[in-house]
Amino acid sequence: MNHKIAPSILSADFLHLNRDIEMLNESDADWIHCDVMDGVFVPNISFGFPVLKQIKKVAKKPMDVHLMIVQPERYIQEVKNCGAYMMTVHYEASPHLNRTVSAIHEAGMKAGVTLNPHTPVEMLEDILQDVDMVLIMSVNPGFGGQKFIERSLSKVSRLRNMIEQRGLSTLIEVDGGVNLETAKSLIDAGADVLVAGNAVFSAPDPKKMIRQLKDL
Ligand code: DX5
Ligand code: ZN
Repeated sequence: MNHKIAPSILSADFLHLNRDIEMLNESDADWIHCDVMDGVFVPNISFGFPVLKQIKKVAKKPMDVHLMIVQPERYIQEVKNCGAYMMTVHYEASPHLNRTVSAIHEAGMKAGVTLNPHTPVEMLEDILQDVDMVLIMSVNPGFGGQKFIERSLSKVSRLRNMIEQRGLSTLIEVDGGVNLETAKSLIDAGADVLVAGNAVFSAPDPKKMIRQLKDL
């Protein structure tokens, strides 16, 4: 029961964001997962820095910012100014990842790298030692409420082996289609942090759902 739960506010009620963040503050959620999309890297646009800044004013949990944007290195200081704890960029969107990860650390944030479903975890062999977290996308990024891609489980296991063989403490986060059915096998495969959007916010009692995911 050491895993963390990071509800994704992409599925929150944007007309009542304050209420939903307060709910997360009172819940057993560990982090607040914030999905920033640019309509270029992914076929959807979500919200940006002005919204993150407002969330920060209310949030009592660390902000886990997942950037689904091209050239995320352009916005490192901006993300820091929004109060992010973790800044996660896509492997596929940042060709000079070593430099990007260093710059995120220099700005005073934890650095995460995200892999799309088709990108093998083995591509991280030469950056793994430099990142605080790897985010495995278990759906194609861009939308909440999609079906979990089963093959993600083997990616989590392989990454867990890589981390353990090298004696690293890198966290593994999984994002997309996480619910009470898929979460257990992800934890068994070695996931440390589970993102859940639809499963939490469409539940009749979101706080209870967070507790149930946490108790697995
Ligand atoms: C998808 C986002 C996810 C999304 C997950 O591109 O990165 O964080 O909110 O939503 P669910 O849990 O509904 O699949
Ligand atoms: Zn996400």
